[in-house]
Amino acid sequence: MFEHKVEPAWAAVEQYLGAAVVHPDDSLQEAVKAAADAGMPAIEVAPNAGKLLNLLVKISGASRILEIGTLAGYSTIWMAKALPDGGRLVTCEYLPEHAAVARKNVDRAGVGGKIEIRVGAALDTLPVLKDEGAEPFDLVFIDADKQHNPDYLEWAITLGRPGTVVILDNAVWEGVMLDPGIDDVNGPGIVAALKMLGEDPRLDATVMQTVGGKGWDGFALAVVR
Ligand code: SAH
Ligand code: DHB
Ligand code: MG
Repeated sequence: MFEHKVEPAWAAVEQYLGAAVVHPDDSLQEAVKAAADAGMPAIEVAPNAGKLLNLLVKISGASRILEIGTLAGYSTIWMAKALPDGGRLVTCEYLPEHAAVARKNVDRAGVGGKIEIRVGAALDTLPVLKDEGAEPFDLVFIDADKQHNPDYLEWAITLGRPGTVVILDNAVWEGVMLDPGIDDVNGPGIVAALKMLGEDPRLDATVMQTVGGKGWDGFALAVVR
């Protein structure tokens, strides 16, 4: 896996913000612990980023959320906690063992009834959502295999509507756009997605750079025109 470099102060400030401002509840801490106990990689969003997702759900008034890349359900729980009564979240995960840990975590968090986990490669499960005639999603969070980021943006448009909020994690990836050689697996998809965010007339976007316990990265935010 590509190693992110971390300044100690970035991680320390992230911890400070978590404790001083964000206050993740016990179910979120337990989800992280369950993932670690299951030997899963600690690549969930930071607490302050999870809270941003939660606030974006509230601010946009989303009641239908699509997530691509579940891991142990940490970002899933943050978003589901902001859903109104009757809201739904569909999350796509490739690995059945990740999905099983996520299912326990979302149930323990008390939001399991709102969440459907679709297991398989997202490029196989997203067309099924389309075939089922799913109602448009109001908010889409993309955080899976970075090679397919442009395909996932395309699916966010297909399964969304004008006004759908699209968030894409790992949009800076240690500055891979300056030096593609640092990661020739994930880099091309990340850079191609930025080009699409900037040039596709169906999207209106920005990217915020971030630093924290997982290094130098970024959160892309877009709305479907
Ligand atoms: N959103 C999560 C982190 C996701 S990590 C959080 O913040 O808590 C990325 C996840 O995407 C991993 O669980 C990985 O197994 C999954 N993944 C990788 N390739 C995928 C694919 N093709 N389709 C669906 N999920 C995939
Ligand atoms: C990795 C993946 C992520 O989605 C992330 O936020 C951080 C790291 C990874 O595969 O290394
Ligand atoms: Mg990520």
